[in-house]
Amino acid sequence: MDLIFATNNQHKVAEISSMLTDSWSIQTLEDVGFTREVPETGSTLEANALQKARYIKDHLGKDCFADDTGLEIEALNGEPGVYSARYAGPEKDSDLNIRKVLSEMEGKSNRRARFRTVIALIINGKELFFEGIVNGIILEKSEGTGGFGYDPIFKPDEAGVSFARMPLSKKNQISHRGRAFSKLVEYLKTIN
Ligand code: IMP
Repeated sequence: MDLIFATNNQHKVAEISSMLTDSWSIQTLEDVGFTREVPETGSTLEANALQKARYIKDHLGKDCFADDTGLEIEALNGEPGVYSARYAGPEKDSDLNIRKVLSEMEGKSNRRARFRTVIALIINGKELFFEGIVNGIILEKSEGTGGFGYDPIFKPDEAGVSFARMPLSKKNQISHRGRAFSKLVEYLKTIN
């Protein structure tokens, strides 16, 4: 069965495809020739994920899913949250975002944080959500060069090093997105 993933991020597609059986074929927006920018104007991860999935369903008429992720830091009242990509400005620069988090966290003793991914799935006329969370702490400084986004300053509770210092396979096992994908995959198995 075909399912569109409202993304052009090949890493995400590879990750979920590796978890699915051959009976599912995941296509990106590029794969189906959809080049318009998908709006993302919600104020929660749920609203954004659903907005993206509905936009694709409305334009292509096909079953699809979309994801949205945020880094939620306790001492910053859940910021950057839904604004994680553009926390330091519209250019979505990871180095600047990290610098801003570290500066906002200066002098804060509570360094608890979590990554949260929400997936909105539209299938067979139903709208469903799947959530994945990984808890951890914000490090005092960047550690490691792997991964992307906030990986160098986030250390999950299940590991002794930052996301940027672990192999991708290990990160995928415990990450917010990996956990949300697992729930989606379990659901898809029940209808296939
Ligand atoms: P998106 O919803 O997957 O595009 O994620 C929004 C933003 O959250 C990204 O631009 C990154 O800054 C951050 N982010 C999402 N997933 C991760 C991750 O696995 N590691 C580090 N940062 C992430």
